[in-house]
Amino acid sequence: MNYSCSKLRNITFLTCTLLAIIFLQFSLLTSVNAQNAVVDSTATDGAAAASGDDGSGIPSSPEAIAEGESIFNNNCTVCHAINQQVVGPALSGVETRWEDLGTLVAFIKNSQKVIQGGNEYAVNLYNEYNKTLMPAFADYSDDQILNILAYIKAEAAAPAQAEATAGGGEGGEAVAAQGGGGIPSGYLTAIIVGLLVILVLILLVLVLIISVLTRFLNQKQDLDDADREIINQKVDAQKLVKSRPFIGIMLFIFMAIVVKLVFDGLYSVGVQQGYQPKQPIAFSHALHAGQYEIECQYCHTGVMKAKSANIPSANICMNCHQQIKTESPEIQKIYAAIDFNPETQTYGNNKKPIEWVRIHNLPDLAYFNHAQHVNVGGLDCQTCHGEIQEMEVVYQESTLTMGWCINCHRETQVNAEGNAYYDKLLELHNSENPKEPMKVEDIGGLECSKCHY
Ligand code: HEC
Ligand code: HEC
Ligand code: HEC
Ligand code: HEC
Ligand code: HEC
Ligand code: HEC
Repeated sequence: MNYSCSKLRNITFLTCTLLAIIFLQFSLLTSVNAQNAVVDSTATDGAAAASGDDGSGIPSSPEAIAEGESIFNNNCTVCHAINQQVVGPALSGVETRWEDLGTLVAFIKNSQKVIQGGNEYAVNLYNEYNKTLMPAFADYSDDQILNILAYIKAEAAAPAQAEATAGGGEGGEAVAAQGGGGIPSGYLTAIIVGLLVILVLILLVLVLIISVLTRFLNQKQDLDDADREIINQKVDAQKLVKSRPFIGIMLFIFMAIVVKLVFDGLYSVGVQQGYQPKQPIAFSHALHAGQYEIECQYCHTGVMKAKSANIPSANICMNCHQQIKTESPEIQKIYAAIDFNPETQTYGNNKKPIEWVRIHNLPDLAYFNHAQHVNVGGLDCQTCHGEIQEMEVVYQESTLTMGWCINCHRETQVNAEGNAYYDKLLELHNSENPKEPMKVEDIGGLECSKCHY
């Protein structure tokens, strides 16, 4: 009886130790999760009821308005609001300001063409806005542009809703983008929390049993002094630390940590996963690509057609920052780099490039082509780079090792649909192996010479 009582104490102490270790692991884990937290952008609800088609040539169906809204939100909100001047003019009633719809559509598709064509209204507007370039949207069809105009018109006709957004074209977006919360990253966290709860419960029960036992034994009359001493002894930490089970457990944990560190070290020779250098200007992808939804290609111009994705030149920043946040010290750094004087709006000739610190970098012996993966392969940037649009400061999400490339080539199906280049290969593959889909490895994605010079 006495013996089991002091045993119980030891178990209690060990449970405590275990709890502490799990808790440590857990706090490490949550700090990683915090980095991965996902922010949902809440989509605003469909537009208000459309005004009837008045023969203006602008569509008024809800589908058209919905499509227009999505294009507008993706491309235009950075510079335009409906009822408020932002970088560009307020767009409410814009269709009435232009002499004909055709020119207006042409202007939205490529404003510079219309301005250079000498359209008087466009030239005046351009000068009025200090010759700020509105980017071209040549990829959209005339119908899509008309849908944007349909959305603008519907939105302008719904004063109540417009009022709500007018509280600041940018501010409204900000609130919307913050709507979502973190998504728990899988079951691991849940399991660990479950374990923690169970351990705490066990601990409570053990403590309870011990105190009940102690009280019970103390009340017994027929105990000699030696026994009484054992019952009332405090947890003898020193003895416990020297006890065999304790040393065993500690040794095991120590070995496990050492082995893990050694393996991690071996695997990561030359691997820069997680690399997150400080950049010369506090440029945030979470703000530009996330909140303002500027497309990756707008800045990384090479991804669709070249090997390299390109880091944007300061000129691209100036499309917006000639007007936006001119007083911010971070933006002044852009001005300093290109020797721009915001007061006189003139450029000097003492230019020097902004020295962005390169994050992703394959060794020279390897060849990687963005266009092949993004354009031909149809992969999202996020597959390889992680949720860039949520990163304040970019870090390297993937290992970028040879094993990483090869694994994906083994698992990923070739995006062969509608690509005549693959017709022959697909036919050949299907005749030999009709059940399996055609993977990248089947088109030579594992050949050394494809990736090595
Ligand atoms: C980088 C900022 C920027 C973006 C992005 C932008 N615009 Fe503009 N927009 C301007 C500026 C500045 C003007 C004024 C004319 C000029 O400077 O060329 C303008 C003018 C216009 C006009 C003429 C306004 C009037 O009062 O007659 C329309 C219409 C227009 N933009 C529509 C759009 C649409 C639609 C989109 C999205 C597909 C868009 N803009 C994206 C900056 C931008
Ligand atoms: C407004 C311009 C802009 C937009 C939009 C933008 N980026 Fe960037 N991106 C930059 C700049 C500037 C850098 C270099 C500074 C830095 O690393 O933050 C960069 C760096 C990067 C890097 C790291 C490059 C390296 O050094 O290895 C990746 C990857 C990247 N961007 C991906 C994306 C993706 C994916 C998107 C779309 C979701 C995107 N970017 C949208 C401007 C932009
Ligand atoms: C299409 C428009 C657009 C482009 C292109 C763009 N930005 Fe921005 N940028 C914005 C908007 C909008 C804001 C938010 C302004 C605000 O908070 O009021 C912003 C904010 C910033 C800020 C934060 C300023 C502060 O003090 O809060 C920095 C820094 C910045 N941008 C740097 C850059 C750099 C560097 C580039 C070029 C690689 C760039 N931006 C390209 C639209 C743009
Ligand atoms: C299949 C994986 C993959 C995809 C998809 C991908 N990237 Fe990359 N990215 C890489 C690798 C690998 C590098 C390093 C290239 C090097 O060092 O030569 C890189 C480098 C970059 C860089 C640094 C500059 C450069 O070109 O070396 C930028 C910026 C970038 N990527 C942006 C993007 C954007 C934007 C997209 C989506 C449109 C994208 N990437 C899609 C794998 C990918
Ligand atoms: C997320 C998956 C993924 C990753 C990671 C990836 N690739 Fe690919 N890769 C593809 C796909 C899909 C294709 C097929 C594209 C196409 O249709 O041509 C491809 C094709 C290629 C090709 C052309 C193969 C051929 O036979 O035409 C090369 C070369 C290549 N990748 C190199 C690399 C290198 C180098 C890396 C690592 C730095 C890498 N890839 C990482 C998915 C990936
Ligand atoms: C899908 C692309 C791809 C294919 C196929 C590929 N490699 Fe690699 N290889 C890479 C990349 C990317 C690296 C650089 C990764 C790194 O440094 O961790 C690399 C690195 C290497 C290295 C240097 C390793 C080091 O630690 O510096 C050797 C050697 C090598 N590859 C040999 C081969 C041989 C042999 C083949 C054919 C059986 C092959 N590779 C096929 C992408 C590929």
